[in-house]
Amino acid sequence: MNTKTISFLALATFVGSALAAEDFDVAAAWVKDCQKCHAEDGSGLTKKGRKLRLKDYRKPEVQAKMTDEEIVKAIKEGVKEDGEFTMNAYAEDYTDEQITALLAYIRALGK
Ligand code: HEC
Repeated sequence: MNTKTISFLALATFVGSALAAEDFDVAAAWVKDCQKCHAEDGSGLTKKGRKLRLKDYRKPEVQAKMTDEEIVKAIKEGVKEDGEFTMNAYAEDYTDEQITALLAYIRALGK
């Protein structure tokens, strides 16, 4: 491989990842994968959310109790209660960057 090829590959990788990050519509992802339990506004006031007694992410005190690490962990590994998944793990569905975007989205629901 000559230097030109290498810099072309580096550029392609850079542009590729920048595009992937831009292509990600975090609000659409929330609606597609999270809304049915957590509700569009993060209130958790859906049929499923009520049953699972979800926290209301609009509330500042709820936001204050969750660390960024806990939020990322919940999205990646899911949530289990009595050995059963009450929320699925999304590590396979989203990249780390996308999970960071979801974290920011959840934080914004509290503002
Ligand atoms: C099948 C229902 C369901 C779906 C779908 C779902 N969740 Fe959850 N989620 C839960 C349950 C149950 C909990 C645990 C109870 C709680 O924290 O309110 C939870 C907890 C969380 C937490 C943990 C907050 C904390 O207390 O540390 C985060 C963050 C979260 N969900 C984000 C998401 C995101 C992002 C999506 C979509 C990619 C999603 N959830 C999809 C049911 C769901």
